Amino acid sequence: MSGEFVADLEGMIRARAKTTSPLYQTILAGKATQRLLRTFVEQRWPIKSWWTRNLTGVASRVEDIALRRSLIENAYEEEFGALSHSKRHVETFEDFGRSVGVDPRTLATAAQFPETVAVVEHNKSACNDSHVHFTAGTASVLLLMEGQPPIADEQGRSMMAVMRDTYELPEWGYEFFKHHASTGAEGDGVSELEDEHTEPLRELLTRYCDTPQLQDQARASLQTAIELRHAHFDAILREAYDPAEPVFHYAG
Ligand SMILES: [Fe+2]
Repeated sequence: MSGEFVADLEGMIRARAKTTSPLYQTILAGKATQRLLRTFVEQRWPIKSWWTRNLTGVASRVEDIALRRSLIENAYEEEFGALSHSKRHVETFEDFGRSVGVDPRTLATAAQFPETVAVVEHNKSACNDSHVHFTAGTASVLLLMEGQPPIADEQGRSMMAVMRDTYELPEWGYEFFKHHASTGAEGDGVSELEDEHTEPLRELLTRYCDTPQLQDQARASLQTAIELRHAHFDAILREAYDPAEPVFHYAG
């Protein structure tokens, strides 16, 4: 029954995957302009910069040591890049930003769309508010993020391939996409990191989200998170995309 519950959540996530969003479709189709990519970085950054605090917010409430360790290990890798011999993951996202013309020093104070603020606030509350059961945050923030199906176009080209081949970013610019948001040809499209992070979340939910009330709360929280993130994606496209502007190519 709880296996079914988790499969249900994963079905909800798949049905509204990032690739169903016109924003990601535009980027993957190679149609993104510099203003769109810059805005994408500025609006995605606040959500990413909260990720480890959301992870550890859930971790701090998990009794089981093996599950807690896996969340902490995930957060450790995120903050240091030590296990993948990379660097702080948000820093690789900032590198991507630099390659499309964003000064990383401006990110913390860049104006956030209301739709961006709404996602950040939802995530913070679901993972860190002690009045919300931590399984709600696990479903609506952690599983939603780690359980994303591959971001790839119909030909199977991943975000990384598009960043490298279409927008012609240098390697330091597309490094982030090696570890996030799909690998395309090298695997089934889900990066190894994301894959190994999903299993403990399934286990956590199976174990602790074990009453109809908790399951309803988790499902509702995930539904809200999905609606909010698509409103946030749509806002980025609406505010920052004009197809009349030239398509972005890295110029050095
Ligand atoms: Fe990451």
